[in-house]
Amino acid sequence: MPTPVPILSDSARGFRPLPLIARAPRREPQVPALGRAPRVHLWHIGCQMNDADRRELAAHIADIGCIPETALDDSDITVLITCTVRANAEQKVFGKFRELIPWKRSRPGRAIALTGCMAVEHGEALLDRLPELDYVFDVREPDGFLAKLQALHAPNLDGPVMVPAPDRLSAYVAVMGGCNEMCTYCIVPFVRGRELSRPLPEVVAHVERLVAQGVREVTLLGQNVNSYHDQPHRARLPELLAAVDAVPGLWRLRFLTSHPRNAVPELFAAMRDLPTVCEQLHLPVQAGDDNLLRRMRRLYSVEEYRDKIAAAVGTVGPRLALSTDIIVGFCGESEAEFAGTEALMREVRFDTVHLAAYSVRPGTAAARREDDVPLQEKKARLNHLLAVQREIAAARNAEYVGSAVEILIDGIAEDGRPYGRTRENKVAWLPPGVAVPGELRTAQVVASSAWQLHAQPAGKAA
Ligand code: SAH
Ligand code: SF4
Ligand code: F3S
Repeated sequence: MPTPVPILSDSARGFRPLPLIARAPRREPQVPALGRAPRVHLWHIGCQMNDADRRELAAHIADIGCIPETALDDSDITVLITCTVRANAEQKVFGKFRELIPWKRSRPGRAIALTGCMAVEHGEALLDRLPELDYVFDVREPDGFLAKLQALHAPNLDGPVMVPAPDRLSAYVAVMGGCNEMCTYCIVPFVRGRELSRPLPEVVAHVERLVAQGVREVTLLGQNVNSYHDQPHRARLPELLAAVDAVPGLWRLRFLTSHPRNAVPELFAAMRDLPTVCEQLHLPVQAGDDNLLRRMRRLYSVEEYRDKIAAAVGTVGPRLALSTDIIVGFCGESEAEFAGTEALMREVRFDTVHLAAYSVRPGTAAARREDDVPLQEKKARLNHLLAVQREIAAARNAEYVGSAVEILIDGIAEDGRPYGRTRENKVAWLPPGVAVPGELRTAQVVASSAWQLHAQPAGKAA
């Protein structure tokens, strides 16, 4: 029997949001006499949750009278919204930071702030490591940072700034934060804390606001979104989907990320019955071998995963697009275990697979095990599965040729061709001149590749 992994480590149980950490008094911030409201450049990396956090932060920045989302060269402050899920995400942040040093030095008084998951993971240590960094704060508790900006720039602030609503058709809405799952390799529960669901009426009001601004497609977000639970309103994810589905003017509804353990028949029935909910399910499997899954603490077997997929496809229909996340090279991953993962991929025939090489995250349970698959081997396994998936995706997409898809037109490419996404979340292209952004078109698929569909218009869907 494998040693049981503790359900929650002490550090995750004692999770507290990080207060603002500023470089002062080590160095008093220089504040330029701008004679105007400061401009704030935002940059983010990582998952969709960071995208949603960036939008929230931009709204808070505008509320205190600063101007968010300005171009880097025109800006006075840059905020980095970071990710720590794998070592290479952190390396990208450090790379971005290095690029900002000449930007900061080229004009006195410029400042750099770092937030997001790396801020929680490393806290004040970042100020020691990065001498040019001015502020570190938790993106879920931005009040300290905002109060500091207000205090420093008070003479130049003149009440909330009206920022034009972005011209976008799709938006992310965080419906819960945190994760209680504690998969052994994963740092997310440490940096995002325990699960906390937003009340259903608040989510619905948020979606209504977005629809009033022109948004037509919403993706509800949670690290473990199918454990959403608003007790006072007796709502789990299926009830939440039903409430959002009823918002007038919303055309499409998606949700991310589901844990297989919490993917229940009621959810699949809601996907089938609610007209806006798209035929797309992201159900990360991580590995295709029971021992490997146990070491990862995923709490389901390959057989159970297969049954969930069969139930989802059986309920929603054969057009259901399936996507997953897979980690290769986890501690002790044998050739046979790896072969199990490949076999599962070939059996399920996912439309999309997000593949990642295992990266040790300090403080996680798996960090105590030996990271014994050599980097070269991890890369070889990754490349092998990428090639397998390219083949599967090409075959899946080829099955669309001759059938109709519904495309929400997002934009027009330089060569004049309109493009957008189908309900199954596939990128689709139309010939030049037949559609404009914002339209919902049905079209006949005439050609395909592993990553996209090419279609001819067949009329207007809306
Ligand atoms: N809550 C979501 C997303 C978590 S992070 C979920 O459960 O799927 C997104 C993906 O990153 C995970 O699904 C996993 O495949 C990958 N990941 C997480 N920790 C990792 C690590 N230490 N090394 C490599 N990949 C990792
Ligand atoms: Fe990480 Fe996802 Fe597991 Fe939560 S469910 S611990 S976010 S991989
Ligand atoms: Fe990265 Fe944090 Fe998302 S670690 S994957 S940005 S929750």
